[in-house]
Amino acid sequence: MIFTVAIDGPAAAGKGTISRAVAERFGFAHLDTGLLYRAVGAKGGDPVAAAEGLTPADLARGDLRSAAAGQAASRIAAIPAVRAALVAFQRRFARAEGGAVLDGRDIGTVICPEAEVKLYVTASDAVRAHRRWLELSAQGERVTEAEVLAQLQERDRRDSERATAPLRPAADAVLLDTSTLAVEEAVARAIAEVSARL
Ligand code: C5P
Repeated sequence: MIFTVAIDGPAAAGKGTISRAVAERFGFAHLDTGLLYRAVGAKGGDPVAAAEGLTPADLARGDLRSAAAGQAASRIAAIPAVRAALVAFQRRFARAEGGAVLDGRDIGTVICPEAEVKLYVTASDAVRAHRRWLELSAQGERVTEAEVLAQLQERDRRDSERATAPLRPAADAVLLDTSTLAVEEAVARAIAEVSARL
């Protein structure tokens, strides 16, 4: 069976948690596409060459979840040739036999417009900043919640305003605002959308 679940939205809206839960529930493969851009940004040097030569070892680096890696990712993600170098891999993953969940910014709009289910996951800026601050603090990063909020807003602005594959909901995406939802409730709604299409 070929079945793609596209989960897009701004930083720290809950895409990762929802994607992992949906993949586990239905036995689908999961790709966190943000990791591709983080790995390209972390490699340094020419970002286009880094994207063209990305290896599994690059994706296994331990420092990709840091705030700095997120900022570097959103800068190189605005380069059209970097995005182009990562398209084929993501499309193959999305349409591989067995079902796939991909989370990112442009999955439902550019990578897989034919996805069977498209979710656009959002939450208020304050809620997202608080969640990301908790995550970063747990990783040992010394950063204030206000700094995290400013970084998220800068990253969202860059992601939304870039010319190539900007962050925006696909016309046929289901909106899921997780500002006031418990994790279990957000996951249950996503699972219900997938179940309805299967
Ligand atoms: O999702 P995550 O925060 O890991 O993504 C890091 C950055 O990678 C984003 O801010 C965005 O600039 C970029 N990205 C993208 N397209 C995707 C996934 C991530 O441009 N599909």
